[in-house]
Amino acid sequence: MFVTGAVPGDRVRARITKRKRAYAEARALALVEASPERVDPRVPHPGAPWQVLHYERQLAEKEHQVRDALARIGGFDVPPVEPIIPAEDPWRYRNKVEYSFGSGEDGGLVLGFHRPGRWNEIDDVGVDILASERVDALRERVKEWCRAEGLSAYDRREGTGFLRNLVVREGRRRGQLQARLVTSPGDFRSADLAAALDDADGVLWTRAAGAAETTRDGETELLAGSDVLEEELRVFGATLGFRISPEAFFQVHTEQAERLYALAAELAGLRGSERVFDLYSGIGTIALCLALRAREVLGIESVEPAVADAIENARRNEVENVRFFAGDVRTALRPLVEEAGRPDVVVVDPPRAGLSQKIVRRVLETRAGRVVYVSCNPTTLAPNARQMADAGYRLSTVRPVDMFPQTPHIECVALLERDGG
Ligand SMILES: C[S@@+](CC[C@H](N)C(=O)[O-])C[C@H]1O[C@@H](n2cnc3c(N)ncnc32)[C@H](O)[C@@H]1O
Repeated sequence: MFVTGAVPGDRVRARITKRKRAYAEARALALVEASPERVDPRVPHPGAPWQVLHYERQLAEKEHQVRDALARIGGFDVPPVEPIIPAEDPWRYRNKVEYSFGSGEDGGLVLGFHRPGRWNEIDDVGVDILASERVDALRERVKEWCRAEGLSAYDRREGTGFLRNLVVREGRRRGQLQARLVTSPGDFRSADLAAALDDADGVLWTRAAGAAETTRDGETELLAGSDVLEEELRVFGATLGFRISPEAFFQVHTEQAERLYALAAELAGLRGSERVFDLYSGIGTIALCLALRAREVLGIESVEPAVADAIENARRNEVENVRFFAGDVRTALRPLVEEAGRPDVVVVDPPRAGLSQKIVRRVLETRAGRVVYVSCNPTTLAPNARQMADAGYRLSTVRPVDMFPQTPHIECVALLERDGG
């Protein structure tokens, strides 16, 4: 039972919100008895609910939850889970934050996070202990500027108001900062805002219509600087440079991403002669890390600007043994095998929903000797790994990597090896 609004060790009264065959999800309504392990939070933050547990305790709990998911949901008697890789810096690590505009109790403009469980109430944020101080300063400047302009927050229930979100991204290693304001259709003194944010490397404005709460829709206009963010990753002593489009995914914890990719590459067991498929390849991070040690790497990704980034990233880093394809893994995998030949290694890094049974079947069809599964959700890794195990793959190792300190989210890398191959 995964209970939002509680930490391990609490006794709570909770309401079940989702019931699955192997597990359920619930929301805490009242705290009956607090966990004796609770500590005071640094600063209230709805995105950091586990900050009331010491970091060591968080790590132990995550490792335990991976083991638990694989045993209970995946039916693995003794899951081969290795010690979790902790983050060196468990605070102020996020390189991307999405803030929401709202109206405070006095009707004034606030900019912060949704109150847990309340889709229409926003709590103001003054200090965001998961983002850098630079991001804090930028957010406060945007808030003050919008207040001084008398701009109003968009109200989803009424369909009125203008300001929706502020998305801030940082290229931490390159010292880059990007601000993207998301609004309803309409106008404002955009050039003045861009001038007020003169230390940002890029200022963008997205106009989105409709009530959907997403920062991915709408038309985006560049107000100042560049629309792509520059970042670099250091893996195996090499430094790879990346450009990241506003629509593209990038791991939120840069330093831990380097560890995650190095681990994925290590588990791929490359000797230089392999053909590797990187499914869900994003801007090409994993593919480029692996290409340093493989014969060739082929990536599939559905978001076209991310594919364009991946192609450009390969060119910039002078990596010639990679190719990227825009497509849905569900339909693009079979044609890729026909065109390029069977892969020796398949890497998958899907969104939280994991792989559908059909996609697992497609992966199995490739008869790859190794499948490296990068997962941000052990409850979907577990049934996918079970399906592969039933088809003759051995789950040989699972290593959690703490990408999301102070939160219950868990990332891990698993290796599945084909028996006899
Ligand atoms: C967790 S991210 C991983 C990206 C990349 N491997 C990385 O580490 O930066 C998942 C990626 O899968 C892409 N994606 C989601 N559904 C997809 C599908 N059906 N086919 C192809 N790509 C998909 C998303 O756009 C996103 O870039």
